[in-house]
Amino acid sequence: MNNLQKNGYAKYDLMTSLDYEGIEADYKEILDYFEDLPIDDYAPEANRYRRYSRALVLPTSGTIEWLPTMQRDGEEFSAYFQGKFNPEHAGSYREFHSIGPSIQNNRLLQEIIMANYRETFWKEEDQIMPIHVGVHFVKLMVESDEDRAVSSPDCLHQDGEPFTFAHLVERSNVEGGTNAIGIPEVRGRQPEEADEGDLHEIFEITKPLESYGVYDSKVSHYVSPVEKGEDDTPGVRSVILIDYQLTVVADMDE
Ligand SMILES: [Fe+2]
Repeated sequence: MNNLQKNGYAKYDLMTSLDYEGIEADYKEILDYFEDLPIDDYAPEANRYRRYSRALVLPTSGTIEWLPTMQRDGEEFSAYFQGKFNPEHAGSYREFHSIGPSIQNNRLLQEIIMANYRETFWKEEDQIMPIHVGVHFVKLMVESDEDRAVSSPDCLHQDGEPFTFAHLVERSNVEGGTNAIGIPEVRGRQPEEADEGDLHEIFEITKPLESYGVYDSKVSHYVSPVEKGEDDTPGVRSVILIDYQLTVVADMDE
């Protein structure tokens, strides 16, 4: 039983554990791609930029198959079903700009997806179907001292997907972006509103590919808003979020 199963969450250092010839160049390609992520149309005031794509992991071959996108006005979009646990977008479909094919084929991104996948665990009867993977590239960027960049939802919460992993791509000149993991019952609250005993851990991920994963039904999680640090450059916190779920979409009325 791994830590994810035992504790409901686990922390990782994938730059070390995935280490291979060329990992730095692949990381650099991802880092550069985050430079011009499009703004999150669903929260234009949030100083949030993002792309999103969906893939299947085929359990037998261990291969990744990216799902088709929809084209609108010459741009590629991927649809996202939020599920019932995000109070800011309950039960809604959203569409995000897709992650481009060159990055979908980036070896490091694929290694990360498979490394996370190997951490997940499923009932035997569920493993006859492909596992659905949602890959979010999310950048919070604050350019002035008054700016705040807020993750959604801005409280302890559960995602609704069985497993979610967060991988730091870049953290530079920011205050905040602090993670908290709590018991499920503190969802909807700020960490400071929760009893200390109901929080498992408060931490920050600061190095490239420093990561954590949650087994969603066992914990709630949170990341605090980001503000600009003291340097004269924009504050940036970029992460890759990857969620894993079964082929069947959860019943909204359950
Ligand atoms: Fe979340």
